Amino acid sequence: MDEQQKLQEFQDRIDAGEKIEPKDWMPERFRKQLVRMMSQHAHSEIIGMLPEGNWITRAPSLRRKLALLAKVQDEAGHGLYLYSGAETLGVSRDEMIDDLLSGKAKYSNIFNYPTQTWADIGVIGWLVDGAAIVNQTMLAKSSFGPYARANLRICKEESFHRKQGHEIIATMMKGTPAQRKMVQDAVNRWWWPTLMMFGPPDDNSPNSNELIRWKVKTKTNDELRQSFIDRTVEEAHDMGIEIPDPDLRYNEETKHWEIGEINFDELYRVVTGNGPMNKKRMAARRKAHEEGRWVREAAEAYAEKQKLKEKKAS
Ligand code: 3HC
Repeated sequence: MDEQQKLQEFQDRIDAGEKIEPKDWMPERFRKQLVRMMSQHAHSEIIGMLPEGNWITRAPSLRRKLALLAKVQDEAGHGLYLYSGAETLGVSRDEMIDDLLSGKAKYSNIFNYPTQTWADIGVIGWLVDGAAIVNQTMLAKSSFGPYARANLRICKEESFHRKQGHEIIATMMKGTPAQRKMVQDAVNRWWWPTLMMFGPPDDNSPNSNELIRWKVKTKTNDELRQSFIDRTVEEAHDMGIEIPDPDLRYNEETKHWEIGEINFDELYRVVTGNGPMNKKRMAARRKAHEEGRWVREAAEAYAEKQKLKEKKAS
Protein backbone atom coordinates (compact mmCIF):
# COMPACT_ATOMS: atom_id res chain seq x y z
CA MET A 1 0.00 0.00 0.00
CA ASP A 2 1.33 3.45 -0.77
CA GLU A 3 1.26 6.30 1.77
CA GLN A 4 -1.96 7.76 0.35
CA GLN A 5 -3.81 4.45 0.64
CA LYS A 6 -2.56 3.94 4.20
CA LEU A 7 -3.76 7.40 5.13
CA GLN A 8 -7.18 6.71 3.62
CA GLU A 9 -7.48 3.42 5.47
CA PHE A 10 -6.46 5.13 8.70
CA GLN A 11 -9.10 7.83 8.21
CA ASP A 12 -11.73 5.18 7.34
CA ARG A 13 -11.03 3.37 10.61
CA ILE A 14 -11.40 6.61 12.52
CA ASP A 15 -14.60 7.53 10.69
CA ALA A 16 -15.99 4.09 11.55
CA GLY A 17 -15.36 4.85 15.24
CA GLU A 18 -12.49 2.38 15.69
CA LYS A 19 -9.78 3.02 18.25
CA ILE A 20 -6.18 3.36 17.06
CA GLU A 21 -3.82 1.30 19.21
CA PRO A 22 -0.04 1.87 19.67
CA LYS A 23 1.07 -0.91 17.29
CA ASP A 24 -1.30 0.15 14.50
CA TRP A 25 -0.06 2.17 11.56
CA MET A 26 -0.58 5.89 12.11
CA PRO A 27 0.62 9.02 10.33
CA GLU A 28 3.68 10.56 11.98
CA ARG A 29 1.72 13.78 12.49
CA PHE A 30 -0.97 11.90 14.46
CA ARG A 31 1.73 10.40 16.69
CA LYS A 32 3.31 13.83 17.24
CA GLN A 33 -0.02 15.47 18.10
CA LEU A 34 -0.82 12.74 20.62
CA VAL A 35 2.62 12.96 22.24
CA ARG A 36 2.19 16.75 22.48
CA MET A 37 -1.26 16.58 24.04
CA MET A 38 -0.68 13.63 26.33
CA SER A 39 2.63 14.92 27.66
CA GLN A 40 1.21 18.45 28.22
CA HIS A 41 -1.73 16.86 29.97
CA ALA A 42 0.57 14.70 32.15
CA HIS A 43 2.72 17.71 33.06
CA SER A 44 -0.43 19.64 34.00
CA GLU A 45 -1.48 16.93 36.42
CA ILE A 46 1.95 16.89 38.06
CA ILE A 47 2.40 20.67 38.26
CA GLY A 48 -1.27 20.84 39.34
CA MET A 49 -0.29 19.14 42.61
CA LEU A 50 1.68 22.20 43.71
CA PRO A 51 -0.98 24.91 44.26
CA GLU A 52 -3.14 22.54 46.30
CA GLY A 53 -0.27 20.76 48.05
CA ASN A 54 0.48 24.18 49.48
CA TRP A 55 -2.71 23.91 51.63
CA ILE A 56 -2.40 20.35 52.97
CA THR A 57 -0.77 21.53 56.21
CA ARG A 58 -3.32 24.34 56.58
CA ALA A 59 -6.59 22.48 55.89
CA PRO A 60 -9.19 23.56 58.45
CA SER A 61 -10.05 20.05 59.74
CA LEU A 62 -8.77 16.48 59.65
CA ARG A 63 -11.57 15.51 57.26
CA ARG A 64 -10.64 18.30 54.84
CA LYS A 65 -6.97 17.38 55.11
CA LEU A 66 -7.65 13.72 54.28
CA ALA A 67 -9.74 14.62 51.24
CA LEU A 68 -7.15 17.10 49.98
CA LEU A 69 -4.29 14.66 50.50
CA ALA A 70 -6.18 12.01 48.55
CA LYS A 71 -6.95 14.47 45.77
CA VAL A 72 -3.36 15.63 45.37
CA GLN A 73 -2.22 12.01 45.34
CA ASP A 74 -4.83 11.22 42.65
CA GLU A 75 -3.31 13.96 40.46
CA ALA A 76 0.08 12.22 40.66
CA GLY A 77 -1.64 9.01 39.55
CA HIS A 78 -3.24 10.82 36.59
CA GLY A 79 0.17 12.08 35.54
CA LEU A 80 1.49 8.52 35.66
CA TYR A 81 -1.36 7.05 33.57
CA LEU A 82 -0.77 9.75 30.97
CA TYR A 83 3.03 9.42 30.86
CA SER A 84 2.58 5.64 30.45
CA GLY A 85 0.05 6.21 27.67
CA ALA A 86 2.40 8.61 25.88
CA GLU A 87 5.29 6.13 26.20
CA THR A 88 3.34 3.70 23.98
CA LEU A 89 3.99 6.21 21.18
CA GLY A 90 7.75 5.72 21.42
CA VAL A 91 8.72 8.68 23.57
CA SER A 92 10.45 8.01 26.89
CA ARG A 93 9.31 9.38 30.23
CA ASP A 94 12.77 10.87 30.76
CA GLU A 95 12.51 12.84 27.50
CA MET A 96 9.08 14.19 28.46
CA ILE A 97 10.23 15.17 31.92
CA ASP A 98 13.39 16.79 30.55
CA ASP A 99 11.19 18.88 28.25
CA LEU A 100 9.08 19.99 31.21
CA LEU A 101 12.05 20.82 33.42
CA SER A 102 13.90 22.69 30.68
CA GLY A 103 10.83 24.85 30.08
CA LYS A 104 10.34 23.52 26.52
CA ALA A 105 7.03 21.77 27.21
CA LYS A 106 3.78 23.54 28.04
CA TYR A 107 1.38 22.71 30.85
CA SER A 108 -2.03 24.14 31.68
CA ASN A 109 -2.18 27.91 32.23
CA ILE A 110 -4.30 27.47 35.35
CA PHE A 111 -1.53 26.22 37.61
CA ASN A 112 0.41 29.45 37.33
CA TYR A 113 -1.85 31.35 39.71
CA PRO A 114 -1.38 31.48 43.50
CA THR A 115 -3.68 29.80 46.05
CA GLN A 116 -4.20 32.60 48.54
CA THR A 117 -6.93 31.34 50.88
CA TRP A 118 -8.71 28.11 51.82
CA ALA A 119 -11.59 29.15 49.55
CA ASP A 120 -9.17 28.80 46.62
CA ILE A 121 -9.00 25.07 47.33
CA GLY A 122 -12.78 24.77 47.09
CA VAL A 123 -12.87 26.90 43.96
CA ILE A 124 -10.12 24.86 42.29
CA GLY A 125 -12.11 21.67 42.90
CA TRP A 126 -15.37 23.18 41.73
CA LEU A 127 -14.16 25.31 38.79
CA VAL A 128 -10.79 23.90 37.68
CA ASP A 129 -11.64 20.22 38.10
CA GLY A 130 -15.12 21.00 36.75
CA ALA A 131 -13.55 22.44 33.59
CA ALA A 132 -11.10 19.55 33.36
CA ILE A 133 -13.98 17.05 33.50
CA VAL A 134 -15.86 18.74 30.64
CA ASN A 135 -12.72 18.48 28.53
CA GLN A 136 -11.68 15.01 29.65
CA THR A 137 -15.12 13.43 29.26
CA MET A 138 -14.73 14.25 25.58
CA LEU A 139 -11.14 12.93 25.58
CA ALA A 140 -12.35 9.66 27.13
CA LYS A 141 -13.89 9.02 23.70
CA SER A 142 -10.71 9.96 21.86
CA SER A 143 -9.66 7.84 18.87
CA PHE A 144 -6.33 6.85 20.46
CA GLY A 145 -7.03 3.86 22.74
CA PRO A 146 -4.50 4.48 25.55
CA TYR A 147 -5.49 8.17 25.82
CA ALA A 148 -9.22 7.34 25.87
CA ARG A 149 -8.75 4.69 28.58
CA ALA A 150 -6.53 6.94 30.72
CA ASN A 151 -9.15 9.70 30.56
CA LEU A 152 -11.96 7.35 31.47
CA ARG A 153 -10.18 6.53 34.69
CA ILE A 154 -9.17 10.12 35.32
CA CYS A 155 -12.75 11.37 34.92
CA LYS A 156 -14.03 9.03 37.62
CA GLU A 157 -11.55 10.50 40.09
CA GLU A 158 -11.99 14.07 38.89
CA SER A 159 -15.68 13.86 39.54
CA PHE A 160 -14.90 13.15 43.20
CA HIS A 161 -12.51 16.13 43.19
CA ARG A 162 -15.17 18.36 41.80
CA LYS A 163 -17.65 17.25 44.44
CA GLN A 164 -15.23 17.89 47.29
CA GLY A 165 -14.57 21.40 45.92
CA HIS A 166 -18.27 22.09 45.50
CA GLU A 167 -18.94 20.91 49.02
CA ILE A 168 -16.22 23.19 50.47
CA ILE A 169 -17.71 26.17 48.65
CA ALA A 170 -21.35 25.33 49.46
CA THR A 171 -20.40 24.95 53.15
CA MET A 172 -18.56 28.27 53.22
CA MET A 173 -21.46 30.01 51.46
CA LYS A 174 -23.68 28.89 54.33
CA GLY A 175 -21.15 30.24 56.84
CA THR A 176 -20.20 33.72 58.06
CA PRO A 177 -20.12 36.89 55.93
CA ALA A 178 -16.30 36.67 56.02
CA GLN A 179 -16.41 33.13 54.60
CA ARG A 180 -18.84 34.15 51.85
CA LYS A 181 -16.59 37.07 50.98
CA MET A 182 -13.61 34.74 50.82
CA VAL A 183 -15.44 32.49 48.32
CA GLN A 184 -16.50 35.43 46.16
CA ASP A 185 -12.95 36.77 46.13
CA ALA A 186 -11.62 33.35 45.07
CA VAL A 187 -14.22 33.07 42.27
CA ASN A 188 -13.31 36.58 41.10
CA ARG A 189 -9.68 35.53 40.71
CA TRP A 190 -10.21 32.02 39.24
CA TRP A 191 -13.18 32.51 36.87
CA TRP A 192 -11.39 33.98 33.86
CA PRO A 193 -8.24 31.81 34.04
CA THR A 194 -10.55 28.75 34.25
CA LEU A 195 -12.30 29.80 31.04
CA MET A 196 -8.87 30.09 29.42
CA MET A 197 -8.14 26.44 30.24
CA PHE A 198 -10.22 25.45 27.19
CA GLY A 199 -7.63 27.08 24.94
CA PRO A 200 -7.77 29.90 22.38
CA PRO A 201 -11.00 30.63 20.50
CA ASP A 202 -11.81 28.28 17.61
CA ASP A 203 -10.74 30.75 14.91
CA ASN A 204 -7.32 30.96 16.55
CA SER A 205 -6.73 27.33 17.50
CA PRO A 206 -4.10 25.94 15.09
CA ASN A 207 -4.48 22.31 16.22
CA SER A 208 -8.25 21.90 16.46
CA ASN A 209 -9.18 21.09 12.84
CA GLU A 210 -6.66 18.30 12.54
CA LEU A 211 -7.50 16.87 15.97
CA ILE A 212 -11.21 16.90 15.18
CA ARG A 213 -10.69 15.26 11.78
CA TRP A 214 -8.85 12.48 13.62
CA LYS A 215 -11.44 12.40 16.42
CA VAL A 216 -8.78 12.98 19.04
CA LYS A 217 -11.06 15.87 20.02
CA THR A 218 -14.73 15.64 19.11
CA LYS A 219 -15.68 19.15 20.21
CA THR A 220 -14.02 22.50 19.70
CA ASN A 221 -12.48 24.67 22.43
CA ASP A 222 -15.40 27.13 22.28
CA GLU A 223 -18.05 24.38 22.38
CA LEU A 224 -16.52 22.89 25.51
CA ARG A 225 -16.08 26.31 27.10
CA GLN A 226 -19.75 27.08 26.47
CA SER A 227 -20.99 23.86 28.02
CA PHE A 228 -18.86 24.57 31.12
CA ILE A 229 -20.24 28.12 31.35
CA ASP A 230 -23.87 27.01 31.03
CA ARG A 231 -23.55 24.46 33.78
CA THR A 232 -21.40 26.54 36.14
CA VAL A 233 -23.29 29.84 36.02
CA GLU A 234 -26.43 28.09 37.24
CA GLU A 235 -24.54 26.40 40.08
CA ALA A 236 -22.94 29.71 41.11
CA HIS A 237 -26.31 31.41 41.25
CA ASP A 238 -27.78 28.53 43.27
CA MET A 239 -25.07 29.03 45.89
CA GLY A 240 -25.41 32.84 45.90
CA ILE A 241 -22.10 33.44 44.11
CA GLU A 242 -21.73 36.19 41.53
CA ILE A 243 -19.91 35.57 38.27
CA PRO A 244 -17.38 38.42 37.88
CA ASP A 245 -18.57 39.45 34.43
CA PRO A 246 -20.71 42.57 33.90
CA ASP A 247 -21.60 41.37 30.39
CA LEU A 248 -22.93 37.99 31.46
CA ARG A 249 -26.46 37.45 30.16
CA TYR A 250 -28.80 34.62 29.34
CA ASN A 251 -29.84 34.38 25.72
CA GLU A 252 -33.43 33.12 25.69
CA GLU A 253 -33.21 32.20 22.01
CA THR A 254 -30.06 30.10 22.10
CA LYS A 255 -30.63 28.97 25.72
CA HIS A 256 -26.98 29.73 26.47
CA TRP A 257 -25.23 32.08 28.88
CA GLU A 258 -23.21 34.69 26.97
CA ILE A 259 -20.06 36.13 28.50
CA GLY A 260 -17.89 39.22 28.03
CA GLU A 261 -14.58 39.17 26.21
CA ILE A 262 -11.86 36.80 27.45
CA ASN A 263 -8.43 38.40 27.65
CA PHE A 264 -6.53 35.85 25.57
CA ASP A 265 -3.35 37.95 25.76
CA GLU A 266 -3.23 36.84 29.38
CA LEU A 267 -3.48 33.18 28.29
CA TYR A 268 -0.56 33.56 25.86
CA ARG A 269 1.50 35.43 28.46
CA VAL A 270 0.93 32.75 31.10
CA VAL A 271 1.58 29.74 28.85
CA THR A 272 4.84 31.24 27.60
CA GLY A 273 6.26 31.39 31.11
CA ASN A 274 5.16 34.83 32.28
CA GLY A 275 2.27 34.16 34.64
CA PRO A 276 2.31 35.08 38.33
CA MET A 277 3.65 31.71 39.52
CA ASN A 278 5.48 30.11 36.55
CA LYS A 279 8.96 30.60 37.96
CA LYS A 280 8.01 29.34 41.42
CA ARG A 281 6.18 26.30 40.04
CA MET A 282 9.12 25.27 37.88
CA ALA A 283 11.60 25.85 40.71
CA ALA A 284 9.50 23.66 43.03
CA ARG A 285 9.21 20.95 40.38
CA ARG A 286 12.98 20.96 39.67
CA LYS A 287 13.73 20.76 43.41
CA ALA A 288 11.33 17.81 43.83
CA HIS A 289 12.94 16.10 40.83
CA GLU A 290 16.43 16.50 42.31
CA GLU A 291 15.29 15.34 45.74
CA GLY A 292 13.77 12.22 44.18
CA ARG A 293 16.95 11.33 42.29
CA TRP A 294 18.22 8.88 44.94
CA VAL A 295 14.86 7.05 44.90
CA ARG A 296 14.98 6.63 41.12
CA GLU A 297 18.60 5.49 41.26
CA ALA A 298 17.85 3.01 44.06
CA ALA A 299 14.86 1.62 42.13
CA GLU A 300 16.93 1.25 38.97
CA ALA A 301 19.77 -0.48 40.85
CA TYR A 302 17.26 -2.85 42.47
CA ALA A 303 15.68 -3.68 39.09
CA GLU A 304 19.14 -4.30 37.64
CA LYS A 305 20.00 -6.62 40.53
CA GLN A 306 16.76 -8.57 40.09
CA LYS A 307 17.49 -8.97 36.38
CA LEU A 308 20.97 -10.40 37.14
CA LYS A 309 19.46 -12.77 39.71
CA GLU A 310 16.87 -14.01 37.20
CA LYS A 311 19.57 -14.45 34.55
CA LYS A 312 21.72 -16.50 36.94
CA ALA A 313 18.74 -18.66 37.93
CA SER A 314 17.74 -19.47 34.32
N1 3HC B 1 -2.76 26.03 28.89
C1 3HC B 1 -1.56 25.92 28.27
N2 3HC B 1 -1.44 25.89 26.93
C2 3HC B 1 -2.56 25.94 26.21
C3 3HC B 1 -3.83 26.04 26.79
C4 3HC B 1 -3.90 26.09 28.19
N3 3HC B 1 -5.05 26.20 28.82
N4 3HC B 1 -4.75 26.08 25.80
C5 3HC B 1 -4.07 26.01 24.64
N5 3HC B 1 -2.77 25.93 24.89
C6 3HC B 1 -1.70 25.86 23.89
C7 3HC B 1 -1.76 24.57 23.12
O1 3HC B 1 -1.08 23.55 23.83
C8 3HC B 1 -1.13 24.95 21.82
O2 3HC B 1 0.27 25.05 21.99
P1 3HC B 1 1.32 24.07 21.24
O3 3HC B 1 0.84 23.92 19.82
O4 3HC B 1 2.63 24.74 21.40
O5 3HC B 1 1.27 22.77 21.95
C9 3HC B 1 -1.59 26.37 21.62
O6 3HC B 1 -1.95 26.85 22.91
C10 3HC B 1 -2.76 26.50 20.67
O7 3HC B 1 -3.92 25.85 21.19
P2 3HC B 1 -4.85 24.84 20.38
O8 3HC B 1 -6.26 25.16 20.69
O9 3HC B 1 -4.46 24.80 18.94
O10 3HC B 1 -4.42 23.47 21.06
P3 3HC B 1 -5.26 22.15 21.26
O11 3HC B 1 -6.17 21.91 20.09
O12 3HC B 1 -4.33 21.08 21.65
O13 3HC B 1 -6.23 22.49 22.50
C11 3HC B 1 -6.27 21.95 24.87
C12 3HC B 1 -5.70 22.86 23.77
C13 3HC B 1 -7.74 22.21 25.00
C14 3HC B 1 -5.55 22.29 26.18
C15 3HC B 1 -6.02 20.48 24.44
O14 3HC B 1 -4.67 20.27 24.16
C16 3HC B 1 -6.43 19.46 25.47
O15 3HC B 1 -7.59 19.17 25.60
N6 3HC B 1 -5.42 18.88 26.15
C17 3HC B 1 -5.61 17.76 27.06
C18 3HC B 1 -6.18 18.15 28.37
C19 3HC B 1 -5.23 18.95 29.19
O16 3HC B 1 -4.06 19.07 28.94
N7 3HC B 1 -5.74 19.49 30.27
C20 3HC B 1 -4.95 20.29 31.15
C21 3HC B 1 -5.62 20.46 32.40
S1 3HC B 1 -5.30 19.08 33.41
C22 3HC B 1 -5.99 19.47 34.78
O17 3HC B 1 -6.69 20.40 34.76
C23 3HC B 1 -5.63 18.67 35.97
C24 3HC B 1 -6.79 18.48 36.86
O18 3HC B 1 -6.39 17.70 37.88
C25 3HC B 1 -7.36 19.73 37.41
